[in-house]
Order: sequence, then structure tokens, then C-alpha cells
Amino acid sequence: MKKSILCALLLGLGGLTKAQNIQLDLSQYPSPVTFTNEQDHANMQQQLGIKVLRPGISGNEAAPNAANYDESKANPCPELPDILTTNDGRRVISEDMWWETRRPELVDALEREVYGKLPENIPSVKWEVKIIDREFVARTPIIAKQIIGHVDNSSYPLINVDINMILVVPANAKGPVPVLMMFGRPSFPAPAQPSGEDMEILNSSFKEMMIKNDPSIKAIFDKYPAYTPVTRLPGPNFFAPPVSGDSPTTEQLLAAGWGYLTIDPSSIQADNHAGITRGIIGLVNKGQPRSPEDWGALRAWAWGAARALDYLETDSLVDSKKVGIEGVSRYGKAALVTMAFEPRFATALIGSSGKGGTTLHRRVFGEAVESLAGGENYWMAGNYMKYGAEKSEFGRLDGCDLPVDSHDMLALCAPRPVFVSYGIPEKGDAKWLDQKGSYMAVIAAGTAYKFLGATDLGVSNDYMKEEMPPYNTDMLEGDLAWRQHDGGHTDAPNMQYFIPWANRVLGNEK
Ligand code: GCU
Repeated sequence: MKKSILCALLLGLGGLTKAQNIQLDLSQYPSPVTFTNEQDHANMQQQLGIKVLRPGISGNEAAPNAANYDESKANPCPELPDILTTNDGRRVISEDMWWETRRPELVDALEREVYGKLPENIPSVKWEVKIIDREFVARTPIIAKQIIGHVDNSSYPLINVDINMILVVPANAKGPVPVLMMFGRPSFPAPAQPSGEDMEILNSSFKEMMIKNDPSIKAIFDKYPAYTPVTRLPGPNFFAPPVSGDSPTTEQLLAAGWGYLTIDPSSIQADNHAGITRGIIGLVNKGQPRSPEDWGALRAWAWGAARALDYLETDSLVDSKKVGIEGVSRYGKAALVTMAFEPRFATALIGSSGKGGTTLHRRVFGEAVESLAGGENYWMAGNYMKYGAEKSEFGRLDGCDLPVDSHDMLALCAPRPVFVSYGIPEKGDAKWLDQKGSYMAVIAAGTAYKFLGATDLGVSNDYMKEEMPPYNTDMLEGDLAWRQHDGGHTDAPNMQYFIPWANRVLGNEK
């Protein structure tokens, strides 16, 4: 027992509290595997029996292995798997058939081949409201709560997972508010500052402490008798300009009577290969590497978002039936995965999500399947790597061999409203993201929306014929919405379109 305690202390395994160190016999737990990014990738390649993987392509158009940007070569297999045909070739003719047969088939294939399955034994999360602060955002009084989700790690105490998030709601709301959950870095918008009186107490105590530490400092304070080392941050700006479409996303949401929650993905699962034996994936696997069907980081982040929604269901300030999920880029992918697999999310704003997000996997334009197979495979199920295999035990596969595609992910969201957002390459929302490949998926997914009695973009579902509209065109009339703004790699310029659209589709009163 002594030896194992010493080991834990020496190795500095962050997973244990002091009390646990004393009580636990660590030798009963396998040590967590420590991989470099390359080792984790190589391990999966070996598990899958892939001998040669096609290399990822370069986003630099001048590079010898430049990505394809020639539209005439972008659709090597233009026929998408049909959303409304079952695996055994039957036409889906009723909603029951959709919910009972076809949708589960799509879930199964998307989990197995693309994003990974949720393990059966994921431990529970205990939520702790750590700090409640009353603040102002511009002129709006708000309540901000830091909430930590402690994941039960009794099955493997060597790994700790504490989900970190901050919920912000307008303080003067008449009832529970809709909330947009966003993947990002949680922080208090404007921590409340001590009053003048309290500041005086803090300052005199602080000065005393410093002088006690170094008596020579007294001479300095005597030289500047009016100086106060602890100062207040500026208070709320009641003269701030009224909120407009140019205001920060958070201010626009609050002004519209929404709350928002920022959840830190890295507190759930690290954004790299090496972290795959840690975080929630590592905790469930007891520190061991993934198997090919296991969940990847996107699914893990989405799982965390669903747990955050569990918390919101218990918070009386929140209308938990009207919680949306938002993210940009890799977090746009995570927002799509969240919305597709967790039916309790009411809506989604999916920003510049590219490959692994709303863009069709089988499109060859900018980022390709090979990029995710050879690069950030930890985002996906290990199995996804098969589609980049040139030589393997199972032969050669590419994106065209995928039994499902991103239009199916949108179909899993149906009939719940989804807003797909992009910017423009000229402003930094790179061509690499293949905006058009996402537009095609949205067009194709319209079939599922209409089948379930919802509305799509209002054009046909012929994804090979429909032209992507010029940027700044509003396609916001349906439950599926599309808008490419004239900004960069962000969804902020679309927030002023998202909010009224979401209010309409969620039936919020003005
Ligand atoms: C890279 C990657 C994209 C990803 C993006 C991001 O560009 O190829 O798939 O969306 O990073 O998340 O910033």
C-alpha cells in the first residue's frame, strides 16, 4: 500500500485528493497509458490493420499536395445515401417507420463509422453551483453562476473530470428564459466589485500584510499616503450604446431576453490525441486506449453538453425546453453532434463547421476525409480512419464508401430547427471549410424535415442542382435555415439573424 501511495505522489497523478491518497490502494488500478499524439494515432491505425494511410492534403494552394478547389472534381460520388430508404431497401412511408426503423439505422451507422458510441458505463455527474454573482452586462443586470460538474470517478480514481461552465441569465426576466449553450471558455462577464467601504478594509488589511512581510515597505506607503494597491475595476457602463447587431453575441442574447451558458470542452475531453487516455473517455476506459468504435472528442463534448442540459433542467431560472446549442469550427462540429444525438436540445446554431460538421464527407473540396483520418482522428470514432486507408486488411476505402453522410446528421436533428452559418473566404472563413458542401447537405436534409412536417429552405431538395446563394442572402423562413454572412471564421455576424429566427421557431413571445 505504501509503495503505491508514494508512486501516486511521485508521478503527480492529478486525479487524487490528499484524503484519497491516504485511503486508496492504487495498485488495484491499471496505470493510465501515456501516449504522444503520434503514438495514439499509430495505435488506432494498428488496431484497424491499416498498412498505408493516404496522407492529408494541404490547405496551401501552392503546395504540391494542395487540396482540390476545382468544383468539377469535387463530387466523385454525387449520389448521397438516401435518407428515406432503409438499409434493406424499403421506402420510409410513415413517421413510425422513421422513428422506429430508419432513424435508429442512421444513428447506428453514424455512431459506428463516424463519431463513436456512448459507452454503457459512463459515470454520473454531480453538479455544484460554486459561485453566484450579480453583475451587469452593459446596462442589463444579470445573474452569473459558475457550475462545476463532478464526474464520479470511484471506478478509476486516477482520473478526475470536473466539467466547468458559467450560466448567465438576465436578472429581471419575468420567468424562465431560453438559453443558448455555447462551447467556449467560461468566464464571469463582469465580476461584481466591492463597495468603496469594503475596498478601504481590503486596502488597509493588504497594506498591513505587506508591511508585516517586509517592514521596509512602510516607507513606500508613507511616501504615497493616498495610494491604494487594490483598485476597483470600472463599474457597469450605463451609457453604453444600445445593443445592436454589432454588439457582442452575449449582449445581443441578454437584450433579447435569452440567457447563455458557456461550457469548457477541454474540461470534458482534451482537444488532442494524447489526451484520449484521460478526460471522460480515459476515465471510462480506465486510462487505456480507445477501441475503434469508441467515442471521440466530438461525441464526448456533446455528452458533456447533454449533462449540462441535465443541470439546466433543475434550474428554475431556465426554460429547459428552449435550450439551443452553438459552436464554431471544431465546436460547430460538436454542436451538430450534440443536436443530432440529444433530442432534448431545442435548436442549434452551427457555425463554420466544415468536415466532420455539416459539410459532406464525400465531397473532395478543401479539407478531405483523409485530413481527419490522418490528422484529428481523435475527434471522430477510430473507425473513421478506415476511410483514409490506401492499403489495409480490408482493402482500400475512401469517403465514397461511407454508408452515411452529413445530411444524415441533419436528418437526425429533424424536425427540430437548425441554423447553419458560414462566413466568406475573403474574410477568413477559409475555402478549406467547403461552404458549398454544407449547403448541399442542408438541401438534401430538407427531405427529412418535410417528411416530419417541418419546413426546409424552401427550395428543392436536389442538392446537385440547387445553387448556393450569394452571401448575405437570408434563407430563414423554415425550420432549417442557412445564412452565409460577409464576415470571417465566426458566427457572430449571424447572431442578429439567429435570435429572431430562433424566437419564431421556438414560439417565444416578444
Ligand atoms: C482546422 C481543421 C478544421 C477545424 C478547424 C478549427 O482548420 O481542419 O476541421 O474545424 O481547424 O476548429 O479551427
